[in-house]
Amino acid sequence: MANQLDSLKGWTPTAPGKLAASSSCPTVSVSSGKGGVGKSHIALSVGLALADLGKRVLLVDGDMGLANLHILCGLYPEHDIQEILAGTCRPEDALLPLGPGIDLLPSASGVADLSSLPPERIRDLATSLSRLQSGYDVMLVDTGAGIGDTTMNLVLASDRLLLVTTPEPTAQADAYAFLKVMRSHRRDLPARLCANLCASEDEAVQALTRLSRVSERFLGWEPAWAGWVPRQPGLERFTLERRPAFRASPDGAFARAVRLIARETVRDLAGGEGSFFSRLGGADF
Ligand SMILES: Nc1ncnc2c1ncn2[C@@H]1O[C@H](COP(=O)(O)OP(=O)(O)OP(=O)(O)O)[C@@H](O)[C@H]1O
Ligand SMILES: [Mg+2]
Repeated sequence: MANQLDSLKGWTPTAPGKLAASSSCPTVSVSSGKGGVGKSHIALSVGLALADLGKRVLLVDGDMGLANLHILCGLYPEHDIQEILAGTCRPEDALLPLGPGIDLLPSASGVADLSSLPPERIRDLATSLSRLQSGYDVMLVDTGAGIGDTTMNLVLASDRLLLVTTPEPTAQADAYAFLKVMRSHRRDLPARLCANLCASEDEAVQALTRLSRVSERFLGWEPAWAGWVPRQPGLERFTLERRPAFRASPDGAFARAVRLIARETVRDLAGGEGSFFSRLGGADF
């Protein structure tokens, strides 16, 4: 496990030119094509791991209408993104501390119209959120699955993408579809692939190699790899107990793998383009 990244064929550092215009708070979207591949677990855990590494992390639940990050943490938000959009709550008042160095901005659950926000409401959200940015080193956005407008707007506004997939053929096909749509809008977005729910390193490398090759063949571009995360039996127990798996099982295979991904993320975050909010506001696409 310790040297999993060294063994991953195709590892390519992201071009530093993309990160030249440094920002104090780059944004990383954690997304997937297929649902249920572990985005929320990975976004939350990478956030906690980054906080352990001394980074100040703002974790945003960008799964509008189907929010669940606060549930994974056993928290009951008093306020959420819906109220921020309505102008009845300041973003800073909605924040939930998850521990030293990490806060969660919860989304709203069961709000159908939030799952497909019109561009002007996305713009309002961007304006509200930009006020929070200065207090953090990195903003992680856990998005909904798939290529819906709200998710794509969040992804295309980000400085980086962490695309989670699994070895399952359906997850691979959906990850490719996601990359295709993403690349048709923003060819310059640095993306890394993460294979979750893997039975072994071999299976992970096969899955990532397959996806990289298809992407290279049909999109003319080979995404970088962030790493892989093994399936850890019994992980769902922590969800039932409403405890983040990363904290409940800090020496488990899941947490150890996530820590490696967080370390790579720190390297990536040496810079950042820092215009998430202007892009989310519709200025660039
Ligand atoms: N590495 C892992 N080992 C074992 N179980 C895992 C692992 N990663 C995720 N899971 C389980 O997979 C399920 C889905 O995880 P999660 O909710 O994070 O996925 P998601 O991609 O965010 O889903 P959605 O698309 O609905 O937002 C959960 O039950 C979780 O416990
Ligand atoms: Mg999720």
